[in-house]
Amino acid sequence: MKNKDLKLVVKEKYAKIAEQQILSTQSSCCGVTACCETLEFSMIGDEYQNIKGHNPDADLGLGCGIPTEFAQIKQGDTVVDLGAGAGNDCFVARTLVGENGKIIGLDFTETMVEKARNNNRKMGYGNIEFLLGEIEDMPIPDNTADVVISNCVLNLVPNKEKAFAEIYRILKPNAQLCVSDIVLKGELPEKIKTASEMYVGCVSGAFQIDDYMKIIKNSGFVNIKVEKEKSIQIPDKILLNYLSLRELNEYKKFDNGIYSITVYAEKN
Ligand SMILES: C[S@@+](CC[C@H](N)C(=O)[O-])C[C@H]1O[C@@H](n2cnc3c(N)ncnc32)[C@H](O)[C@@H]1O
Repeated sequence: MKNKDLKLVVKEKYAKIAEQQILSTQSSCCGVTACCETLEFSMIGDEYQNIKGHNPDADLGLGCGIPTEFAQIKQGDTVVDLGAGAGNDCFVARTLVGENGKIIGLDFTETMVEKARNNNRKMGYGNIEFLLGEIEDMPIPDNTADVVISNCVLNLVPNKEKAFAEIYRILKPNAQLCVSDIVLKGELPEKIKTASEMYVGCVSGAFQIDDYMKIIKNSGFVNIKVEKEKSIQIPDKILLNYLSLRELNEYKKFDNGIYSITVYAEKN
């Protein structure tokens, strides 16, 4: 599929999730939906429950890490959250920046932005703003952010080089990024790689970990560290929608894997 078409599929899928206001236990994406809407699983589980600032209305179960944990956000910072969804990490980050800081959530799905704005209206925060826009071409001036965060989004962006170049541009000098994302170690079976559900489910758009780290380095970032790594197991029931039993057994013989990582890096 062409990049333009992939983005349309992603937008449609997340618009549907926002419209349906699916709750975290029922949704997942990052996570994969089988042909019927019952065989879903979430990549993050319920790790957010005890996080300060967690807003259940904004948590659609779409993340694959907790980027704010390692982002070194300080009081008064300006934080930009890329692919903010319904605002989950923005509300957590807001507790860290306080009244004098600022949070900008960016997302390209209109209904998702509306949902995030609604959630913010309910909270009554004057220092969170949700913008409609594309990560590869952000409506945000150069040198704006003290911190950029993102949760399970960059795997969905076909042009990752452009995404990291844009992140670099909007960060202030010496400022940092912390992103949670899905990466691969080893090859996925062809049938998984070409299934659009697997793309919108954050699996087949994921890069090999080494290539992912290389893109961050080549974008000019320094002090790059993988702060957390977690293996993601897609249930056999879901894989069997795409693979025969023989192909599934073959796939499982190799040390292939899908991982959620949280990466920290600084602008040079
Ligand atoms: C898996 S969801 C994660 C949402 C949120 N970060 C969370 O953890 O709840 C991915 C989000 O990224 C947005 N997105 C995907 N590609 C994007 C792009 N190229 N530009 C802006 N937003 C994008 C989608 O609309 C969706 O809301």
